[in-house]
Amino acid sequence: MISSVDLRDLAERILSRLPAAGSVAEVDALEAEVLGAGAPVAEARRSLRDAPEDVRRELGRAVNEVTAAVSAAVGERRSALAAAERDARLVEEWLDMTLPGRAPARGRAHLVSTVWDEIVDIFVALGYTVASGPEVETAYYNFDALNTPPTHPSRLESDTLYVAHGPDPEGVVLRTHTSPVQARYMELHRPPIYVVVPGRVYRRDAVDATHTPVFHQLEGLAVDEAITFGDLKGTLHYFAREFFGSQRKVRFLPHFFPFTEPSAEMHVDCFACDGVGCRVCRETGWIELLGCGVVDPNVFTAVGYDPTEVSGFAFGMGIDRLAMIRYGIPELRMFFDPDLRILRQFP
Ligand code: PHE
Repeated sequence: MISSVDLRDLAERILSRLPAAGSVAEVDALEAEVLGAGAPVAEARRSLRDAPEDVRRELGRAVNEVTAAVSAAVGERRSALAAAERDARLVEEWLDMTLPGRAPARGRAHLVSTVWDEIVDIFVALGYTVASGPEVETAYYNFDALNTPPTHPSRLESDTLYVAHGPDPEGVVLRTHTSPVQARYMELHRPPIYVVVPGRVYRRDAVDATHTPVFHQLEGLAVDEAITFGDLKGTLHYFAREFFGSQRKVRFLPHFFPFTEPSAEMHVDCFACDGVGCRVCRETGWIELLGCGVVDPNVFTAVGYDPTEVSGFAFGMGIDRLAMIRYGIPELRMFFDPDLRILRQFP
């Protein structure tokens, strides 16, 4: 039979090992060594009934004291371990909710795109619709349909980028202007036509401050009954004031384009010096803005319109050029430079 002294010894040994128990499982195992089903305390409890009176009292007290002491110590150790575990997790999973987030880098529209949209908006407000056409174009639409004969100097290989496609080495080009969309649009629509065509165009230009082999134009075409040169002037003067400010004056100088007759160059008085003369306008007081004119009857004939029934005007402007003028950008190639430090400077 187990004695009360054995019981107390055992309890003491277990209690002394408890501080070294590093996990709840180890604590459970230690507890079972004393208080488990087949362990000494249970054994002592069973023997109590048959024990003599004095032994029973002594052993009974030992059973109660050992049970209480071990239970209390084990419980304490368990909660200490649980607290330590929680503290360790708090350290490990610490998260600073006050740290500022990392904002994703946001792009923005290129200045040429912004100006493109702005010009389009001015004409859309006047009732124009927006159209587009292919950048790889047939020589027919780029030249012939626009009254530009095979002998015209603009068709020289020194000016135009020809595309090797099909039997005719001069049959396909990278469009040199947005004007071919005039012909394409008229073939598909009947007057009245009020359309603008923004787009990319290509010329065989060496890169310098004001030339790159690719740039952007915006074409305009109005075809209706009894359209006159006066309508053209009013429309483009309105555009110049919308784009450069309400004080702007414009002037029209005679020019030549194969697909308009008469043709003109439109100038706007310099917004930087109010026409006095400065660096922006190269001391002339005027800035050349665009080419324009009354649609040549031959163009109408080429697209199947009757030039005695309809009339119209057309114009073409350089989008990059307008952006350069308004924002004082000295080099056209800056628009095509991928260096973000350059691009970010543009408003
Ligand atoms: N297409 C001409 C150019 O690129 C501009 C223009 C368009 C002139 C329409 C008159 C009419 O220079």
